[in-house]
Amino acid sequence: MKIAVAGTGYVGLVTGVCLAEKGFSVSCVDIEERKVDLMRSGISPIFEPGLEELMIKNRKKLNFTTNYKEAYKDADVIFIGVGTPEKHDGSANLNYVYSAATEIAESIEKDCVVVVKSTVPVGTNDKIEELIKSNLAHNVKVHLASNPEFLAQGTALKDTLNPSRIVIGVEDSIAGEILQEVYKGFDAPVLVTNRKSAEMIKYASNDFLALKISFINEIANLCEIIGADIDDVALGMGYDNRIGNRFLNAGIGYGGSCFPKDTKALHWLANFHDNELKTIKAAIDVNENQKIKLIKKSRKYFNSLKGLNVAVLGLTFKPGTDDLREAPSLVNIPIMLEDGANIKAWDPVGMKNFQKKYPEGVTYCFTIEETLKDADLCFIFTEWDEVKEFGLSKYRQLMRNPIILDGRNCYDLTSAKKANIIYDSMGRETINSVKGSLV
Ligand code: UDX
Repeated sequence: MKIAVAGTGYVGLVTGVCLAEKGFSVSCVDIEERKVDLMRSGISPIFEPGLEELMIKNRKKLNFTTNYKEAYKDADVIFIGVGTPEKHDGSANLNYVYSAATEIAESIEKDCVVVVKSTVPVGTNDKIEELIKSNLAHNVKVHLASNPEFLAQGTALKDTLNPSRIVIGVEDSIAGEILQEVYKGFDAPVLVTNRKSAEMIKYASNDFLALKISFINEIANLCEIIGADIDDVALGMGYDNRIGNRFLNAGIGYGGSCFPKDTKALHWLANFHDNELKTIKAAIDVNENQKIKLIKKSRKYFNSLKGLNVAVLGLTFKPGTDDLREAPSLVNIPIMLEDGANIKAWDPVGMKNFQKKYPEGVTYCFTIEETLKDADLCFIFTEWDEVKEFGLSKYRQLMRNPIILDGRNCYDLTSAKKANIIYDSMGRETINSVKGSLV
């Protein structure tokens, strides 16, 4: 079976490489010559642990090209894995999906299955099918399937090679059979449903996880007020397997390329159909507020950040990625700059991307020590292992004022007490500080 993949972002490239790992010959198509050259030389254009190793291992089965006509013309299965970024009104921008579909229609010379992996609003698959059918250059049959992707950045290979489930949304049996053949070598439950349900499974899953995070964040905020401990609360809740213990980590809100976009897109879609998704709206609102929670906390210690040395640990939206999309750092650092803080920032992989956005006003450091030196206040935005493993006593030694505002609960409270630092985290007791006191 010959496979082609449109797009070499997270979804497209990971899909292509994992299918090659499972034994298929895969042509990965991208419009950018520069990216294709990189991939041909074994370099991944995205940061994803293990991806380059797998690209190199499977190089004989992988072809990277800008020549979509060549790649699509005799493919049996073509995956569409291009981006669907958020538009200003919260809806999904489908231009990349539609242009990939048009290119496929112009190129295919034999019957094939076109599989939409990109996250697209419910009903889009039908439009893609119409678009392909009306632009076909040859007299061939196209079977369209929705096959949403559930990978998370940082664990994309594991999530794709050992998926929690394989969802196949089809309107005809041929597409269903061929896709089940493709996934024969994967050990996961397969759900075959209609296309609209498959599209909805993706949105409902992401939005449910976003809701779970916003819920635990609200509970964490209340825990702080009433003196409960969110870690114990989440642990106690998680023992109930109807709730589950995952995605109950309180923090400064979710970011990334999916949850913010997919919550807004589903909310937009419901509105468009004169419907309101109140729970999703609440998840979005809670998240916006949560992102500035640490800045609000800082006002307990300082009236303003003007002239203060501020250390920032972590810039990416989560560890294991260099991605800054919707990261809390992007909301907080502009506020700090406006306040007049002297900012030093560290991130093991996200610094280069951040520096492109903020070339001035922030001093970028290569070590945590350098970042903390003489700081009056430290903000932790990402729970990198390097941060979690960094001894708390060193904060006291290095900082002018050892006040740590931890947005990701990287440390346990007993260690913080021993380290004699002011440690203010999410949904837990503040250590070594008189509540409401100003320094
Ligand atoms: C997510 C989904 O997990 C994945 O299934 C989907 O295909 C794409 O969207 P991703 O955005 O890569 O993946 O990261 P994820 O690990 O889910 O984290 C998203 C955000 O939620 C991060 O900012 C993370 O810090 C935050 N988060 C996650 C929490 O705040 N608490 C948690 O308990 C879990």
